[in-house]
Amino acid sequence: MTHHLLTGKKGLIFGALNDKSIAWKVAERAHEEGASFVLTNTPVSMRLGTINELAKRCNTVVIPADATNVADLENLVTKGQEHLGGKFDFILHSIGMSPNVRKGRTYDDLDYAYFQQTLDISAISFHKILQVCHKQDAINEWGSVVALSYVAAQRTLYGYNDMADAKAVLESIARSFGYIYGREKNVRINTISQSPTMTTAGSGIMGFENLVDFAERMSPLGNATAAECADFVITLFSDLTRKVTMQNLFHDGGYSSMGMSFRAMKIYNEGLEYRDVKNDLRKIINK
Ligand SMILES: NC(=O)c1ccc[n+]([C@@H]2O[C@H](COP(=O)([O-])OP(=O)(O)OC[C@H]3O[C@@H](n4cnc5c(N)ncnc54)[C@H](O)[C@@H]3O)[C@@H](O)[C@H]2O)c1
Repeated sequence: MTHHLLTGKKGLIFGALNDKSIAWKVAERAHEEGASFVLTNTPVSMRLGTINELAKRCNTVVIPADATNVADLENLVTKGQEHLGGKFDFILHSIGMSPNVRKGRTYDDLDYAYFQQTLDISAISFHKILQVCHKQDAINEWGSVVALSYVAAQRTLYGYNDMADAKAVLESIARSFGYIYGREKNVRINTISQSPTMTTAGSGIMGFENLVDFAERMSPLGNATAAECADFVITLFSDLTRKVTMQNLFHDGGYSSMGMSFRAMKIYNEGLEYRDVKNDLRKIINK
């Protein structure tokens, strides 16, 4: 269902790799809501993924850029505005990658060159995008910028590795730049902390299927899907949320406010059975 929430708005969307990507779903929804936008990804991801198919469907172009490379970003921001015929009203940062995770390096055995790449790709790229836009004055008054984060910025989750540090930096950049861009241009900058979601980046995390299952059991509303995340992003791009800025907004079915749920406890209880814990304790928990 369309509400024309983005009619006449122009945007820039980073991070659509394939139809599982959160950025892909955001692009589809933004198109439905009447926005025009430019898509971007690295040349390698453009070859490995299917972003050109998305561009065709949304009647737009893909301008390649490595989000860690300032010259690429300057070119993208200039060309993007030329293509759209004006400044951006919204930007989505949906970028994440950890070479340490990819190579199976654990948090107590990090490769530091990889660690710097993790931070550069997954967090500092956000600052670079904002700084390039700020210098080119490329975002309209009351524009909206959103980046995607994860609860591992606040809580330790086994296997999330150095991406947790990257997300903490990402959320901090949203606050620090949110102050400057808000004060000067009324531009709002927020992060959305999304449920674990079956995408290419997500499934690279160690034990990801178990993490998805655990989060599903812990969340009273269940995990949020990529499509539901896209709906939430659209509200933040719309004019209905003009005074929301410098926030990390949890979009996780309630997970981040839980300590233990009945459904998760049940699994724990099954584990306890093996350890011969008294039956009556099990009965209490199963109630
Ligand atoms: N999937 C999850 O469980 C989950 C949960 C919370 C937050 N997130 C975040 O959502 C965002 C999108 O991830 P996704 O799950 O849709 O996976 P995805 O793999 O579809 O998207 C990640 C994107 O990052 C891009 N990218 C990597 N290096 C880049 C670079 N140097 N320059 C530009 N782009 C680059 C990739 O090409 C890819 O398109 C990420 O920030 C991720 O951390 C994902």
